[in-house]
Amino acid sequence: MTHHIGLIHGDGIGPELVDAARRVLDVAVEGEADLEYHEEQGGAGTYAATGEPLGEGALERVRTRYAATLKGPVGLPGVRRPDGTEAGLLGGVLRGGLDAYANIRPISAIPGVRTPLRPESGPIDYVIVRENTEGLYLSRGLGVGNDRAYSDQLLMTRHGVERVVRAAFDLARRRPGAPEDGVSRVTCVDKSNVIRSYAFFRQVFTEVAREYPDIEADHRYADAAGHDLVMTPGHFDVLVMENFLGDILSDVGAATVGGLGMCPSGNVGDHGAYFEPIHGSAPTLAGRDRANPTSQILSAAMLLDHLGLTDPARRVREAVRSAFASGAVSLDSRGIPDVGTRGVAEAVCARL
Ligand code: IPM
Ligand code: MN
Repeated sequence: MTHHIGLIHGDGIGPELVDAARRVLDVAVEGEADLEYHEEQGGAGTYAATGEPLGEGALERVRTRYAATLKGPVGLPGVRRPDGTEAGLLGGVLRGGLDAYANIRPISAIPGVRTPLRPESGPIDYVIVRENTEGLYLSRGLGVGNDRAYSDQLLMTRHGVERVVRAAFDLARRRPGAPEDGVSRVTCVDKSNVIRSYAFFRQVFTEVAREYPDIEADHRYADAAGHDLVMTPGHFDVLVMENFLGDILSDVGAATVGGLGMCPSGNVGDHGAYFEPIHGSAPTLAGRDRANPTSQILSAAMLLDHLGLTDPARRVREAVRSAFASGAVSLDSRGIPDVGTRGVAEAVCARL
């Protein structure tokens, strides 16, 4: 069977990462499926060349023609809109345009990968489900103000919270539970003790949780969640939270498993999905075969799962684990792989 896949190479290290992941994809599906790739333009480079962050018609094709899209990181520090915000970041365009409301961010420790945590912190394997279409980031670029003050609005709708909380509980049903105790749980992360819209998020969470009596409903204030993700990560199975909190806490989680270069994500809605690393385009590393492509390779594994190619997806994850666990690939203290970007892809392909 042929699956049509969109490819957005992005900026900075994006093209190297997407090339590495594509090599892995091809080896992973060999004999089982055909992937046909369709390149689309997107990111800061596209914005600088055309004044638009995405190529003409690309959003429509990503939404309707491709089974899924693999996207590299985007953004270049020098490419800005007149108001000073970064141009060519596709979050608003693609996440909003596809209504991809659930940003699925697995945080999973791989044995052999150096982290700042003590070994007795135990295994780490949880998923942050970040609301992806509203919250504080709805006002991307739309804040109001003058030279004395600025304000950005944080919006929560019942519809928006309900659907992302359901996505989190549905995901918990498909997982083996928290590493510490095997309990399936969804942790609602908010600041309901201070901010009313977060109290509304928690209220809707509690209502939806009643539909899932088999899953434990758990709570953390966001500040304590940051603490506990570092101190007691084994407690967590699935966490669900507003957009801005999810952006920040997923980077905190990444630090506990070897850095941003280890962490994939999926932007998933009811129509259309795309998969990308959770990090930026690291322009200073670009073109030097230095960036860690694991985040992109694991994003490709999530894409395979989305296509229903669950065996190849599992094999990719196992190959990545084995590449690190065996010592064939290791990271320095800044997360740079010793064998280079291409070397990581080769080590993964060799195991496949
Ligand atoms: C992420 C990124 C994006 C975001 C940026 C690049 C717009 O940090 O995917 O987490 O803020 O959502
Ligand atoms: Mn981020």
